[in-house]
Amino acid sequence: MIITVFATKSSTKTSIAVSISVYLKNNGYDVLLADLDEQSSASDWLDYRSENVNLKQIASVKKNGKNVARDLIELAMKYNYVVCDCGGKDYLAGRLSLLAADVALVPIFPTNLSLLTLESSLSAIRDAKNFNEKLMVFIVITGVNSNILVKDTQEARDLINEMISDMDYCVLTENCITTRKIWSDITPLGLGITESSNNKAVDQFEKLMKEIIK
Ligand SMILES: Nc1ncnc2c1ncn2[C@@H]1O[C@H](COP(=O)(O)OP(=O)(O)OP(=O)(O)O)[C@@H](O)[C@H]1O
Ligand SMILES: [Mg+2]
Repeated sequence: MIITVFATKSSTKTSIAVSISVYLKNNGYDVLLADLDEQSSASDWLDYRSENVNLKQIASVKKNGKNVARDLIELAMKYNYVVCDCGGKDYLAGRLSLLAADVALVPIFPTNLSLLTLESSLSAIRDAKNFNEKLMVFIVITGVNSNILVKDTQEARDLINEMISDMDYCVLTENCITTRKIWSDITPLGLGITESSNNKAVDQFEKLMKEIIK
C-alpha cells in the first residue's frame, strides 16, 4: 500500500510521514519511507535515527522526476507500506505520488489563510483521481492550539466539509494533531511520535492512524 503525505503548502507533512513510518514499522510491517522532497527533511531525520542503534531502522529512498509513479508502484510490491513525504508546493513528484497512491493524507492548519490553500491541494487530488480510481483521501487538521481547540477546529471542519462535499472519496478525520513541543523535540532524536513519552500526543496519533489504516 502506498500512502502519500501531500499538501501544496507547509503543514507538518514530514513530521507526520516519519511518524507514520515508525508506527507501521513498530507494528511489524515492512516499511519504505520515500523522500520526494528536494529539501530532504525526511532523509535528515533518517540520519538522526541511524545514530540510535536501539531503534528499528527504516528503509528509505529518494525519488524525483518523471518516473516517480512507476517507481513507487514497483517498490510497493516489495514492502507492506511505502510512505511518501512530499514537498510543500505543487510540483511533479508530489502529483505523481497521487497517481500511484492508495491513500493521500492531507494535513492542513485550521487558520483562514491555510484553509485558502487547501483548494490547491484538492485541485491536484481531483486531477489525480481521474487517472487513479483507487485513491482515498484523508484530510487531517494539524497544528491545533489546545487552548482554542473547540471553536477553531469546528469552524475549520465546517469549511473543509463544504469544500469536499463533491468528493465522496475524501474524508475529514475525526482526530486532529495538536501543537505540542514534543513534535519538534523528537526530530533530532530520529524518533516517531509513538516512540515519545508524551502520552497525549501518542494517544492522539494512534487514534488517527486507526482511522486511516484499516
Ligand atoms: N504537532 C506539532 N506541534 C508542534 N510542532 C510541530 C508539530 N508538527 C510539526 N512540528 C514542527 O513544525 C515544523 C515544520 O514541520 P514539518 O517539517 O513536518 O512540516 P512540512 O509540512 O514537512 O514542511 P515543508 O513544507 O517545508 O516540507 C518542524 O519544526 C516540526 O518539528
Ligand atoms: Mg517536509
